[in-house]
Amino acid sequence: LVPAPWAGKDLWVKPESLQPIGSFKLRGGYYAIASLPPEHRAAGVIAHSSGNHAQAVAYAARAFGVPCVVVMPEVALPAKVAATEALGAKVVLVPPAQRAEVMADLARREGYAVIPPFDHPDVIAGQGTVGLEIAEDLSTVDVVLVPVGGGGLASGVASAVKALRPEAKVFGVEPALAGDARESLAAGRLVVWPTEQTYRTVADGLRTALSELTLAHLSARLDGIVTVSEEEILSTVGRLAREAHLVVEPSGAVCVAGYLHRRDELPPGRTVAVISGGNIDPALLPALASL
Ligand SMILES: Cc1ncc(COP(=O)(O)O)c(C=O)c1O
Repeated sequence: LVPAPWAGKDLWVKPESLQPIGSFKLRGGYYAIASLPPEHRAAGVIAHSSGNHAQAVAYAARAFGVPCVVVMPEVALPAKVAATEALGAKVVLVPPAQRAEVMADLARREGYAVIPPFDHPDVIAGQGTVGLEIAEDLSTVDVVLVPVGGGGLASGVASAVKALRPEAKVFGVEPALAGDARESLAAGRLVVWPTEQTYRTVADGLRTALSELTLAHLSARLDGIVTVSEEEILSTVGRLAREAHLVVEPSGAVCVAGYLHRRDELPPGRTVAVISGGNIDPALLPALASL
């Protein structure tokens, strides 16, 4: 944990942006692959992702010395394709709408194990180690803020924090433009927003809807969800660069943005904001650094 006195005397950040692949995704991908029966793992693993999950699965597969295929949309940023290939994965580029189908077909034909980005108990457990470390490092923590996309990270973190420190409050944070998790929790059922709507947020890791599994975790364990605006997310990326000296992608900045701008909706006390990733589009950073 890193204290963030520039934002508040009671704030610490958990900078997952400093992980070897630049995001927390390594934890869930690694644990899911580690948990496969060895003979299944040896056949190789497959995932579809255009973002941080792709690099997580590639990194973990390389660590286990097993083949890895990642199906990516042909519109993926060339830098992301290159980063995934550099970790030893074979990248298959397809039209975006065909990603799931191509992955399922390859998995069936080649016997690869599918590693989902969030909708799996082992992935959730792996992401939950973020929460274990927070509770171990700051045993008196009062409030934990965690980003919500598909909800795997928040499910794991809330489960771990509530197990080790039941009195702590855990709040999700998401962009207002992708506020479907907040609406799902309020409605008590899965509410999925159209992709035309959620794809407007700059926080590309948080555009996904929850699953039944993550909704069940979050309904049982989250104390609430706050939303932040695009301007708040972008200016927080700039402040993190200048004041915390951290390179943070928009999805990774939402919790600090929530702390800075939604204090009235959050409980007081010693607060940890999870910074979930640092893989920002290099073209975006210079403009934001001065915001
Ligand atoms: C940087 C970053 N933060 C947060 C998330 C959201 O994680 P989850 O889908 O487990 O809610 C993602 C997912 O891709 C991400 O890449």
